[in-house]
Amino acid sequence: MRGRVFVSCPLPGSAIERLAREHDVEIGIERVGVRGDDFIRAAETFDAIVSCVTDPIDVALLDRARRLRVVANFAVGYDNIDVPACASRGVTVTNTPGVLTEATADLAFGLLLDAARRIAEGDRLVRRGAFDGWRPSFLVGVPVHGGTLGVIGLGRIGQAMARRARGFGMRVLYAGRTRAAPAVEKALHAVHVPLDDLFEQADFVSLHCPLTPDTRGLVSSARLSRMKPGAVLVNTARGACVDEAALAEALVTGPLGAAGLDVFEDEPRVNARLLALENVVLTPHTGSADRAAREAMATTAVESVLAVLAGNSPLYPVAG
Ligand code: DGY
Repeated sequence: MRGRVFVSCPLPGSAIERLAREHDVEIGIERVGVRGDDFIRAAETFDAIVSCVTDPIDVALLDRARRLRVVANFAVGYDNIDVPACASRGVTVTNTPGVLTEATADLAFGLLLDAARRIAEGDRLVRRGAFDGWRPSFLVGVPVHGGTLGVIGLGRIGQAMARRARGFGMRVLYAGRTRAAPAVEKALHAVHVPLDDLFEQADFVSLHCPLTPDTRGLVSSARLSRMKPGAVLVNTARGACVDEAALAEALVTGPLGAAGLDVFEDEPRVNARLLALENVVLTPHTGSADRAAREAMATTAVESVLAVLAGNSPLYPVAG
């Protein structure tokens, strides 16, 4: 039987066409998604939602969407979804792990290089006509090759980041809720350390953890103060893992040397102090934004909807 599927916004690739062959699909407006009138007016008629990280899937929505059987998040992170509330109503939640791993690690390493070697800062300087000739002490940055990378969360993306670091001759430390398998540690030459030690020992700290009550504010003023002078922080995970006010302070007064941020505490708003700083590189939540990753995310989300509406188990259910 054909179901009704609300897709939060147009998605890349041809996955939606495939979905529309089997079900009736309504497509919302980018960044409006489930907050739009088209969803709200017909909420009780939908069997499935393909949601984005900007869509709050909360109790209020679930109380209206009484036919709902699956929420397929077009993302690996799912902190926009009240998963226990979904579980208690029998609504399956899925995400899109795996397909965006390399894309996100590419951007994270790009931010690391950019923040350390002041690439965006140099670009701004050249564009405003302020390049007045080579000199030995001009725009000198932090050495990347041979440095120590501290990875917080050695899951898929954290491991991909560690692989890139190995290519740059870096030493890799990691901390996280779970210890990686010995084979993973061995392959990556990754050494498990307590979280606070990681902040003390790493030249570069990169976040690859989900946003949970435990990781909210994990990069706090106390932890920032333990970092090495000139250290670099990279965040492609979730903005709320970092206390942005404390980060801005540490970038001005030290010890932090620079930061590369793809995500923000209150997106799309960006802390005004951060915006004013030269030693922070900012990208607009584009970690997974390469063509292949985004098309594969759409395919994965659509496959989850097709599976659940056909009475099958989806490939990537999220535990409630
Ligand atoms: C995710 O997948 O969680 C990203 O934030 C969006 O790609």
